[in-house]
Parts: sequence; C-alpha cells; structure tokens
Amino acid sequence: MKFFLDTANLDAIRKAAELGMCDGVTTNPTLIAQEMKHHDHLISEIAKIIKGPISVEGDSDTCDGIVKEAEIFKSWAPNVVIKVPMTHEGLKAVRILEKKGIHTNVTLVFSPSQALLAAKAGASYVSPFVGRLDDISENGMQLVRDILEIYKNYGFKTQVIVASIRHPNHVVEAAKAGAHIATIPADVFNKMWHHPLTDKGIAKFKEDYKKTANLKK
Ligand code: E4P
Repeated sequence: MKFFLDTANLDAIRKAAELGMCDGVTTNPTLIAQEMKHHDHLISEIAKIIKGPISVEGDSDTCDGIVKEAEIFKSWAPNVVIKVPMTHEGLKAVRILEKKGIHTNVTLVFSPSQALLAAKAGASYVSPFVGRLDDISENGMQLVRDILEIYKNYGFKTQVIVASIRHPNHVVEAAKAGAHIATIPADVFNKMWHHPLTDKGIAKFKEDYKKTANLKK
C-alpha cells in the first residue's frame, strides 16, 4: 500500500519523507491556500523532495481549459499528476491527457458509477472522498470497497486513492479493503504511531533499566 501525504506543507512533507514513507503528495486549492504561496513555487518545492506523483488541481471547468492548465502544471515538475473534476468535461479531458501520457487523478468522487466512468475514461487514479461521505452519515469506506470490486471484475488499471481521510482508522480500513493508496493529512499521519500503552511501556522500561544499569559487574 502506498502512502501519499494530503498537504502542501513543506515541513510536513519533509518529515514524512525522512521516514521514507511519503510515496506521493496530493494537493488541492484549499490546501495550497492554507500555505499562502503561489501554486507554481510550492509545487516546484514539493517536487524537490518527492519523486512520486504530486496531484495538482486548477479551476478550469471546460475540457480545453483543463488540458491547457495541465500543460502549465506539467512544466512545473515532471511528476505532476492532474486532478480532474468528476464532470462530463473533466472525463473528456482525462481521455485526452492520458493519450498524451499525462497522468490524471479524477477527484471529488462520491459514487461507484462515477468511479466506473473515471476508469472507462482511462484515468490513472480515482479519489473517493470517504470523510466527506461519513460527514453526511453515508458510508465512505463502503464506496471504496465497491470501487475495488468493480475494478477487479474488469481488470481496470485505475488506482484507488482513498481521500478525505479523517483519522488513523480510515487508513486501516483502506488497507483492509485493499486500496492501492491512502492520501493522509499530516495530523492523521502523526497520530498513526501513537498508543498510550506504548508510551506507558517505554516509561516503565526506562525506569527499570536504570535500576540495573549502574550495578557492579
Ligand atoms: C484529496 O485529494 C483531497 O485533497 C482531500 O483528501 C480532501 O479532503 P477533505 O475532505 O478533508 O478536504
């Protein structure tokens, strides 16, 4: 399973990269706005750290506009992946971009039928937003399972990026479902290794270590 970081924060990306656990990055206009830096600059900086896919999203809603925007984004770094909205125009753009060898990530996916269309259009990635579905009392992880089942039935090569992750359990559930990728916010990533019993155990072992450390041989 690959871990992407769902952030445009350079410090968070560097920290995860130090662990060798950041296989890619997803951004969106909201995440870029949180950093208050120009897209161009931020994506080039991220690309200096991360060699895996970096998803970038613009604001065009016509097929021509999305394709033009994609070419600009690709000039920032070779590993840029174009986030394309799940619309009629977006799906047209996916086919054109993939034919040109530009990878796409169909974003804002909330139903199995949308994911099926994204795969039929030839998208490299599809992003079901589990947290936003859970927020409205739907079952985000069931959507992931449905998409994986459909893709398996027909051998679609589109990879499933579990997005809109809210807590470590979402990552665990994504792994249990067999999703290819989880894109994880930095705060959730940092919660993944914490457990109070681990902290308690370390404190106790430290205390007991001291009891014998200075004994004469
Ligand atoms: C994914 O690519 C999106 O950037 C992200 O997961 C959206 O998550 P949110 O619902 O927390 O905004």
